[in-house]
Amino acid sequence: MNIQPAPPPASFAAPALRHFPSFASAIEGTRPANPVYVLHPRRFRAAVSRFLDSFPGTTMYAVKANPVPHVLDQLHEAGIRHFDTASLSEIELIRTRYSDATCHFMAPVRIPGEARAAWQVHGLTDFVVDCDPELDKLLGETEGGKDLRIFVRVATPLGGAMLELSSKFGTTPANAGRLLKRIASAGAKPALTFHVGSQCLSPFTYAQAVELARRAVDVAGVPVHALDVGGGFPGPYLGNDVPPFHWYFETVREAIGGFPLQDGAEVYCEPGRALAAEGVSLIARVILRRDDQIFLNDGIYGSFDELSVPAWTADYPRRVYTFGPNGRVRERRGELKPFKVFGPTCDTLDVLPRPLTLPKTLQQDDYIVFENMGAYSIALRTGFNGFYPNDWVVLDSE
Ligand SMILES: Cc1ncc(COP(=O)(O)O)c(C=O)c1O
Repeated sequence: MNIQPAPPPASFAAPALRHFPSFASAIEGTRPANPVYVLHPRRFRAAVSRFLDSFPGTTMYAVKANPVPHVLDQLHEAGIRHFDTASLSEIELIRTRYSDATCHFMAPVRIPGEARAAWQVHGLTDFVVDCDPELDKLLGETEGGKDLRIFVRVATPLGGAMLELSSKFGTTPANAGRLLKRIASAGAKPALTFHVGSQCLSPFTYAQAVELARRAVDVAGVPVHALDVGGGFPGPYLGNDVPPFHWYFETVREAIGGFPLQDGAEVYCEPGRALAAEGVSLIARVILRRDDQIFLNDGIYGSFDELSVPAWTADYPRRVYTFGPNGRVRERRGELKPFKVFGPTCDTLDVLPRPLTLPKTLQQDDYIVFENMGAYSIALRTGFNGFYPNDWVVLDSE
C-alpha cells in the first residue's frame, strides 16, 4: 500500500447557532446586512422520514446537493447513515464527521488515485462505471476489484425530469450488460444504477428506467447484487406540480417487484434535492430599489445559481418582511408587481433570469425570505467580488 492521501480536513466544529421562533423574530433580532441561511430542523426530519419510512430500500444522501456541515448534521440527526459521495474530499468530510456513516463512491468517473484511496484508506466497496476505460482504471486501483460491488450506470431518456443527467453519464442496456459480465468475471459483484434526471415530476419515469436496467440484466445473464434508482425526487418549488412522494415509492416498489435481483440483493436511492431543499430558507435584504429594479445582498454568484440553468423554470416560494415605525417587523403584503432583481456584485450577469413578483410597495431595507433553498444553491455559491454568504440561524417552529 503505497498511497499518501491528503490529510482529512479538520473536523468542522459547528458553532452554536442562534435559535428563533419565526422569520420575523430572526430579522428583528439580527437586522442582517448580509444574507442569512435559516435551518428548519422540523423540515429536515420530515424529509428524511418520508424516505426512511416509505422508500423500499436504503436511502443515501447525495452530498453534492448541500455539503455544509450544519445541513449534514441535520440529516444525520434525522437518521441518514448512507452517503453518496463523488470525490475523496466528500468522503473525508463524511468519515471525519460521522463514525457510523457508510460512504458509496457513486460518481461514474473519478480522479486517478481516488478509488484506490477510497478503498484502501476509507474502506469503500461501492463504485460506479459506465465504460471500459473507467472499469480498467478501477480494477487497476483496487487489486482487481474482488472486494467491490461495481454499479454500471444505464442512461435514461429525459422523461419527467427538469434537468437531464444522462448525456454525460450512462450507457445503453446492451453495453451495460456487457460491462456487468466483465465485472462478474473479474470476481466483483455486479450491480446497476441510473439517474432519471433532477427534479423529476413524473414517478413513471422511474418505472421506465428500471425497465432499461432490466434489459441490461437480460443481456448480461449474471445475477445483480444491487439496484440503485438514483436521485431525482423533486423539491416543492413554485410553478412545479409535484406529485405526492408515495406515488414515487409505490412506482419503484412495483417496478422492482419483478426485477431479477440476486437473493439478498439491496435496493438504494440517492436523493439530494428531496432531502436538502426544504430544510433551508434564505433571508436576503433589499439593498437598493431603483424604480422597478431592486438590488439584493445575494445573487447569481451566491445562492441563486440554479435559477440560471436554462431548463429551470421553478421558483422559490417567498415572503417579504419590513420594519414598521415601532421597530417591529411585519409581513409586507398587498398588490404585487414584477421587479428586475440584481445581485450585489459588479458583474452585469449578476441578475436573476426572470423578474420576481413582489409587493408594489417594496422598499430598500425590506427583507425577502426565499424558502426551499437547501439544494444546489448554497453548494454552488462563490466568493466572487468578496461576497460569500455564510451566516446561519435556526428556526425551531416551522
Ligand atoms: C450520481 C448522482 N446521484 C444523486 C444525485 C442527486 O440528484 P437529485 O438531487 O436530483 O436527487 C446526483 C445529482 O447530480 C448525481 O449525479
